[in-house]
Amino acid sequence: AADISQDLEHVLKTSDEVATRVGELAQQVDTDYAGRDLLMVGVLNGAMMVMSDLMRAMKSHCTVDWMAISSYGSGTRSSGVVRILKDLTTDISQRDVLIVEDIVDTGLTLSYLVQNLKSREPASLEILTMFRKPDALTTSVDVRYVGFDIPNEFVVGYGLDFAGRYRNLRDVATLAPHVYK
Ligand code: PRP
Ligand code: MN
Ligand code: MG
Repeated sequence: AADISQDLEHVLKTSDEVATRVGELAQQVDTDYAGRDLLMVGVLNGAMMVMSDLMRAMKSHCTVDWMAISSYGSGTRSSGVVRILKDLTTDISQRDVLIVEDIVDTGLTLSYLVQNLKSREPASLEILTMFRKPDALTTSVDVRYVGFDIPNEFVVGYGLDFAGRYRNLRDVATLAPHVYK
C-alpha cells in the first residue's frame, strides 16, 4: 500500500499536540468524576483512538462500552436520521455516562445519541470530543469537554477517516486535492 503521508496537505494538529491535550482532558475527567463509577461510551469507529488514549491517561477507574451508529437516507448525513448498528451491552440506567467522540461536525450524530441515551435514564450524561468544528454545527449540542475547535475543513487522522482510510495517521491533517479525484 502507498505511503499515507503522500496524500496529506497540511498538518492541523501533531500527535504531540493531541497527546498533550488528551492528558489535560483526562485530568479534568478524573477530577470531575472523582469517587464515581464512570462509564465511557465510545462511538465507533472514529472514537477508537481518543478512547484508548484517554483511558490510559486517566488515573481513576472507568469502564468502557461502544455503540455503532449510521446516518442513512440518500447517502448524506444531513437528514439527521440515524440508526443503531451496534447497541450498548451495558444497562446505563442510573449510571454516570460520558460519550466519547473523535469529532463533532454538524452535531447531528450526537444530538441523536444524546436523545437516545437520555431515554435510558442515566444518572448523568456528558460529552467529550477531541475535535469540534464550530462553523459546521447545524444543531446545538452541549459538549462538556472539547479537545480542539478546528476550522471547517475536511481532516483525517487520529480516528478520522476518508472512505474508511487514514484513521491510523497519528497527526490530524487535511487531504491533498489529488486524493479526491
Ligand atoms: C463521524 C465522526 C462522528 C460524526 C460527526 O462518524 O466520527 O461520529 O461523523 O459528524 P456529525 O456531527 O456531522 O454527525 P462517521 O459517521 O463518519 O462514522 P465513523 O466514526 O465510523 O467514521
Ligand atoms: Mn463517528
Ligand atoms: Mg467517518
